[in-house]
Amino acid sequence: MKGKEAIVIVWLLLALSNKVKGTWSQFYHLRGRLIFQEEFDFLNTTRWQHIITAWRGGNNEFEYYTDRPENSYVRDGVLHIRPTLTADRFGQDFLYNGTLDLWPEGCNVNYNGGCVATSEEDIINPIQSARMRTINSFSFTYGTVEIRAKMPRGDWIWPAMWMMPTENRFGPWPRSGEIDIVEIRANNDFTCGNKQMGNTIMGSTLHFGTDSKHNIWRPTHYEAVLEEGDFASDFHIFGLQRLPQSIRFYVDGILIGEITPPDGGFWEVGQLYRDPGGPNIWGNGTTMTPFDYPFHFILNVAVGGNFFPDGCINRPFPKPWSTRTKQQMLPFWEKRHEWLPTWNLHRGDYPTNALQVDYIRVYEYDPYDTIDWYWYQRSLANNFISDSERSPVYP
Ligand SMILES: *[C@@H]1O[C@H](CO)[C@@H](O)[C@H](O)[C@H]1NC(C)=O
Ligand SMILES: *[C@@H]1O[C@H](CO)[C@@H](O)[C@H](O)[C@H]1NC(C)=O
Ligand SMILES: *[C@@H]1O[C@H](CO)[C@@H](O)[C@H](O)[C@H]1NC(C)=O
Repeated sequence: MKGKEAIVIVWLLLALSNKVKGTWSQFYHLRGRLIFQEEFDFLNTTRWQHIITAWRGGNNEFEYYTDRPENSYVRDGVLHIRPTLTADRFGQDFLYNGTLDLWPEGCNVNYNGGCVATSEEDIINPIQSARMRTINSFSFTYGTVEIRAKMPRGDWIWPAMWMMPTENRFGPWPRSGEIDIVEIRANNDFTCGNKQMGNTIMGSTLHFGTDSKHNIWRPTHYEAVLEEGDFASDFHIFGLQRLPQSIRFYVDGILIGEITPPDGGFWEVGQLYRDPGGPNIWGNGTTMTPFDYPFHFILNVAVGGNFFPDGCINRPFPKPWSTRTKQQMLPFWEKRHEWLPTWNLHRGDYPTNALQVDYIRVYEYDPYDTIDWYWYQRSLANNFISDSERSPVYP
């Protein structure tokens, strides 16, 4: 991220609200045929497979996932994924002494015994949410993704729109890669050091490596900060370009990060030759391996877990759990009078704690596509770029 800061330049028309820092770039370049279009006119459950499990993900999160309509639904042409309270379905006692058996409702991830949750060490997962994927319906390798979405608002909510390899050709995570198009911490005021890490900042990340102890992401993590407002107050267009020589991330057409691996590929980017050393697991591939294979979409809203580090400051109420203790969901749940008001959960059909996705479009990679002047002119008309950037140089 430090090196990328240099990109954060000139810019800035003061009349604009919700500006992303960065430069205009050629997001609309290299786009061919539309190969995937999801406008969310309705929730197509053939296209989107729900994950049903109480497995707490890779980060020890506090939700379980279902396909119930209160957690994932389409309204007014927009997909909503919204976390709700387990206690609203089963009552509060259930969290302390019930058994959540997800087999009858179609549990499909029994990893770590995820199909049944009990309250032995901690309480039952206090949040119910949704996670959906296109593993059986759509994957692609090279192309441009455009997602128009609005993030949820609310403390300890973690929405993610991401991609995973459809076949784990190089083995389990993170050997075959992971592409995180957008993630935020939906808190209104969460600072780590002097850096605001709440809903005014978003991140895009590639993960890769040889095992979970060698999970490389720092050199391929990019961020965008809003100067005004936050990612929960308006829709933004999150972009990803997967090209044969590079991967680029965009917000509202502005390049926020790009990786063009050297000849040694991601093995070299991650300095994996130093640690763990040994043969390059992607050595027979291209410089893009493992990102030169088909990946599919995943959309989910998690709550809590290790994505929220200890040692940061949340206002007005501190983080109710520590990542070092066994019981985390219990103190989280018992402090709900602190975080629940930030969710506006019971605002009927228009809650503010939902991830809202207007559309997802994927364009095939087309090396012969030239600049889309329509979009370029339109961006000028919208004062999207500053005067000093009106003569961009295209490679
Ligand atoms: C639902 O998705 C499937 C798989 O992508 C697709 O074949 C089908 O046409 C979609 N249904 C409708 C009504 O669009
Ligand atoms: C479940 O636990 C709660 C809280 O500890 C307690 O008040 C309640 O009586 C218990 N219910 C049963 C059926 O054991
Ligand atoms: C690369 O190819 C060689 C020769 O086919 C094979 O022996 C080796 O196992 C391959 N390495 C990897 C990491 O796939």
